[in-house]
Amino acid sequence: MLFSREKEVCECTGTTDKQIKKLVRSGRVKDLDDLVSITGVTTGCGGCDVDVTELLNKFRRK
Ligand code: FES
Repeated sequence: MLFSREKEVCECTGTTDKQIKKLVRSGRVKDLDDLVSITGVTTGCGGCDVDVTELLNKFRRK
């Protein structure tokens, strides 16, 4: 069960915004390729592409 403040951004892999944030903060994810190889986001239906990219850019700016 997800925490209420955590939002699933990729239904195919179950990846959440919080997980993406943590990966960016940890330095393990620098770009979309890193994120894809760790979580598999965008490799299912591809429908989360825009949302994932926006989140990635948002967390990298902070
Ligand atoms: S929702 Fe992310 S690949 Fe389908």
